[in-house]
Amino acid sequence: MSEVVSLERRGPIAVITVNNPPVNALGQAVREGLQKSFAAAEADAAVQAVVLVCEGNTFIAGADIKEFGKPPMAPSLPEVIEGLEACSKPSVAVIHGTALGGGLEVALGCHYRIARKDSQVGLPEVKLGLLPGAGGTQRLPRVAGVAKALDMIVSGAPIKAAEALQFNIVDELFEGDLREAGIAYAQKLIAEGRGARRTGEQSAALEGVDNAALVAAKHAEVAKRMRGLFSPLRCIAAVEASFSLPLSEGLKRERELFTECLSSPQRAALVYSFFSERQAAKVEGLDPKTPTRAFDKVAVIGGGTMGVGIALSFANAGIPVRILEISSEARDKAMERASGTYAASVKRGSLTQDAMDKRMALVTGVTDYADLADVDLVIEAVFEDMGVKQKVFEQLDAVCKPGAILASNTSSLDLNVIAGFTKRPQDVVGLHFFSPANVMRLLEVVRAEKTSDEVLATALAIGKKLKKVSVVVGVCDGFVGNRMVFQYGRESEFLLEEGATPEQVDGALKDFGMAMGPTAMRDLSGLDIGWSIRKRQRQELPAEYKLPVLLDKLCEAGWLGQKTGKGFFVYEAGNRNPQPNPDLQPLLEAASREQGIERRQLSAEYIIERTIYALINEGAKILEEGIAQRASDIDVIYLNGYGFPAYRGGPMFYAEQIGLDKVLARIQEFHAEHGAWWKPAPLLVKLASEGRTFSDWNGQ
Ligand code: 3HC
Ligand code: NAI
Repeated sequence: MSEVVSLERRGPIAVITVNNPPVNALGQAVREGLQKSFAAAEADAAVQAVVLVCEGNTFIAGADIKEFGKPPMAPSLPEVIEGLEACSKPSVAVIHGTALGGGLEVALGCHYRIARKDSQVGLPEVKLGLLPGAGGTQRLPRVAGVAKALDMIVSGAPIKAAEALQFNIVDELFEGDLREAGIAYAQKLIAEGRGARRTGEQSAALEGVDNAALVAAKHAEVAKRMRGLFSPLRCIAAVEASFSLPLSEGLKRERELFTECLSSPQRAALVYSFFSERQAAKVEGLDPKTPTRAFDKVAVIGGGTMGVGIALSFANAGIPVRILEISSEARDKAMERASGTYAASVKRGSLTQDAMDKRMALVTGVTDYADLADVDLVIEAVFEDMGVKQKVFEQLDAVCKPGAILASNTSSLDLNVIAGFTKRPQDVVGLHFFSPANVMRLLEVVRAEKTSDEVLATALAIGKKLKKVSVVVGVCDGFVGNRMVFQYGRESEFLLEEGATPEQVDGALKDFGMAMGPTAMRDLSGLDIGWSIRKRQRQELPAEYKLPVLLDKLCEAGWLGQKTGKGFFVYEAGNRNPQPNPDLQPLLEAASREQGIERRQLSAEYIIERTIYALINEGAKILEEGIAQRASDIDVIYLNGYGFPAYRGGPMFYAEQIGLDKVLARIQEFHAEHGAWWKPAPLLVKLASEGRTFSDWNGQ
């Protein structure tokens, strides 16, 4: 039929096989192959049933995302699926791996579906700023009901095969060989005389189910929880058509809504994010075939906030982990923190007691370095102090076996210096987790000067095993994420001194889509951290780098953020929601006076420019210095570690959408007005003057 879709006859059964690695995406050749194969099966009088099966690790995982935004190529997917559904001979889709998006839509176009027990199905289009555009919004409600369809389509989350069976999305589960299971099912269909059973001919308007109420409830939920997103409301509108319109009109409505989403900037940003995340796993100059080392036995040094979170990440992945602390009291406290974290999840209902017990059994507390002699990997997470780190690394060098990977979670210290404390700098790497480490997806993998390729490749494998998004970065103060966020935090504080309130600054940035406002974020991490950095900077920085004074005033008043119940905002006991601080205004005014500033009204647009453009300018410097390999890596860091809205792609992508020339012009104005911090990054000047973008940057 075509290179990627083949047809073979097994007696009265036509077996159609898709073979389009890596995920059997529905590119043009697959669509055409499917169309022709089904037509051939239809035309062949000897064929009584059709089996659709896929090679490789998965059933069709969706439309070919690379084709989005390009001129459409016939046949379209909806057309192919309508053909499949119209086939007069019963067809069965044999699902394994993940039947996602267009893949599930193809399966719903088939008349029956069987799924391997370990498979999953889902309609994740919303995560790409889309909605299922090949009948998914019309056919899924017809088999699973409107409530389940709304949940699956609006969340984009896949479900396991057993749940798919429960909701009639599949007819039977199987184990073992795919093709044989499909053929056996088809033979059963023939023997029982069960013909074509078309999903589209069923109804989603079931008696006794108030679909309109389900739609209204989902609307309310989306308005609250998915604010700013373009496609979820359109997903709901499409599902609504499944019970309010006949199939052909519902499909038309779905198509219109899909096209709207396809041409939205959010879709472009989300698809960019999808590929950026996968691109980040590829490291320039690192052969993908580089061998990796084992990491079956792991130790974490320091059982504080980060150490425990890191240890739990390993336990969650089923890897035994030891936490080494300075004393038996500190060790016991670390173990209590670990079990307390799990217990909170059990209480919330997100973890079972049994799972907690299994995971806790993997965590051991120790105090003696001799207990680390056999570990494959150590991650240091002690105080952020070079002297303390030196002692730890010297001890590790003395006790750890040759080839053990020695990692540091330092957030600002020079990893090259740390590596120099050992006689094996090639085995030292940075694994910079984000707090809470057992929850946050981001992992900055810091490549020091002497880190070996094998250790770097293993660090990436560790990230994958822990289900983190890893991004390789170079050594500098704060690496990528924190170095940029420092600029952002400082500007947000300047805005408070110039006339804004914390509610205005955070409100503007939350409306922009940030998960959290910068002022509330600083309250969360503790204002004293910034204060001590500030004091150091006052000594070190040249005079033209002016610093805000507001933070000092808060800390002098003993307001350190959430941990003291008061900071830029106030916090009621047990409630992390920031409330306006009624005592803040005099401090704001005092800070403005001290800086010689007359307070003024600042618009939301201005607040966004001052903070987000500060990120962009620093990002450009980081890119030029080679600390990040590519602009998209910086974006991946911001999306996964700093709550930047995925539908804006990340700060660097956002800058390109605005236009680098426009961003530069504003930065030049800020430079003239606010001085040295705003010196435009040379790379930004260069690219803007050459009409190029960050994504074009290849070091030249
Ligand atoms: N189109 C094109 N390429 C795809 C793709 C797709 N739908 N899905 C994955 N790929 C590519 C990846 O870019 C990657 O390429 P690379 O090796 O060159 O970097 C490769 O396939 C492997 O992907 P992963 O690294 O993600 O592999 P995993 O095994 O970790 O995950 C997966 C596999 C679960 C299928 C995951 O890739 C995934 O979630 N893919 C996206 C699924 C999706 O969103 N489908 C819906 C598409 S939209 C649609 O169908 C519209 C329709 O309604 C009209
Ligand atoms: P923390 O103060 O909560 O914990 C540090 C722990 O290390 C304490 O329990 C202490 O008893 C223990 N410790 C100190 N010296 C030790 C030694 N010689 N041997 C064994 N244990 C020792 O600190 P936190 O916040 O967990 O930070 C740890 C490291 O992680 C630092 O390098 C920090 O910069 C980095 N980091 C912190 C983040 C955060 O948000 N807190 C985020 C990312 C990195």
